[in-house]
Amino acid sequence: MSDRSAWTSRVGFILAAVGSAVGLGNIWSFPFRTASNGGAAFLVVYLVAVFLIGFPAMMIEFVIGRRGEQNPVHAFDRIGHGNWSFVGGLGAFTSFVTLAFYSVVGGWVFSYIAGSATGAYFGDPAAYFGSVASGPIAIGAHALFMAVTVGIVALGVTDGIERATKFMIPGIFVLLIGLGVWAATLPGASAGYSYYLTPDFGTIVNNFGSIVPPAMGQAFFTLSLGFSVMIAYSSYLDRDDSLPADGGAIVVINTLVAVLAGFVVFPVLFATGGAEGATGGSGTAFVALAGAFGEVPGGQVLGLLFFVVLLFAALSSSISLLEVPVSFVTEQYGVSRAKGSLGMGTAVLLVGVPAALGTNYLTFYNDVVFNLLLPIVVFLLAAFTWFSGRDIVDELQRGTSLGETFPTVWLWWVRLVVPVAVAVTLYLGVKGLYTGLTNGTYF
Ligand code: TRP
Repeated sequence: MSDRSAWTSRVGFILAAVGSAVGLGNIWSFPFRTASNGGAAFLVVYLVAVFLIGFPAMMIEFVIGRRGEQNPVHAFDRIGHGNWSFVGGLGAFTSFVTLAFYSVVGGWVFSYIAGSATGAYFGDPAAYFGSVASGPIAIGAHALFMAVTVGIVALGVTDGIERATKFMIPGIFVLLIGLGVWAATLPGASAGYSYYLTPDFGTIVNNFGSIVPPAMGQAFFTLSLGFSVMIAYSSYLDRDDSLPADGGAIVVINTLVAVLAGFVVFPVLFATGGAEGATGGSGTAFVALAGAFGEVPGGQVLGLLFFVVLLFAALSSSISLLEVPVSFVTEQYGVSRAKGSLGMGTAVLLVGVPAALGTNYLTFYNDVVFNLLLPIVVFLLAAFTWFSGRDIVDELQRGTSLGETFPTVWLWWVRLVVPVAVAVTLYLGVKGLYTGLTNGTYF
């Protein structure tokens, strides 16, 4: 039995992990990636990536965390593989870069809260997005979002936010289902559904190279995998909890939120054929949702409520994103918590400024994380399973009623299938980044 067990219950752990997983990734990034990558073709590859690669890979972080009973860097030491600690460090670095652009999008949410209160986006949702997405307003909102994140982390009052998760997740479900029902009545609904849900396998085959990296990256990003955060969370778990069952619940809830967001966004996109149309861009979800709130009865109140809930979802993710590098410097270099949060927060703020100056730069940050950093970390986690010995199989089995078979199949799956899939992703992802750099997509 672990004496670090900080989760008062198993549900507490699942909620905290869901709080980390559910965020802007589900409601902003997922619809945007799906819209720009062929709709249903992307959805299929994404679901495969989540369940066949992301879920098994999540189990690697879980077994390391529960065995190690330590923060991500020391966890590797504890299980006798200190030379792998750099993987924890790389996860912390990835969290840092992610937060730099995540916070810019978090700033947009502030602008949409303001826009719901004043009604500013009702007339022309696309123009409103243009006015708040980049430039001085975006920089100010990014600073505000970072200030709130730093404040929460520095004061160590993350508990409050984690507790809010209990209300936030059901709130997101209720609001998205309600909006989805309304969206079904729109004239664009059937065109939207067919784009979203009818996969054309020819599209998948022909665009394999451009679909796989964002789909795999989105799967890791949305599950908060490759950031070391799940190692940290599971280090507090009870020895007799079932890791696959907990992980399964987290993956399913998280996937439902993203898929539901698509059920709102696609009908609206096809109904309005707005500026961005069905081809996407980082404004996809914001323009579509704002457009929806402009049309439905009581839309102003609903919009306000929705964006406030989204803000909580974003904050519960951003505080754990900041927490990873902060605990790295406090534990590794003995910096105080207040100084660590403020220093790290300021650095994130500055690094994020370019992303607030143009959505093309934001896309660059996003692609560096999705196409490069996340596949590297997940590949290293999978590689680690070759060196960890069979301890991790026992750890996966502990607390479950599973026999030997499932954990053994899992071991070979994460040793063979996961690294190959991730290596292909990495190759295609780097190629995509290179193309983007040479053909002026980013700069
Ligand atoms: N999963 C979160 C989302 O979908 C984003 C995220 C990525 C995250 N890595 C994380 C959150 C690490 C917390 C910790 O928005």
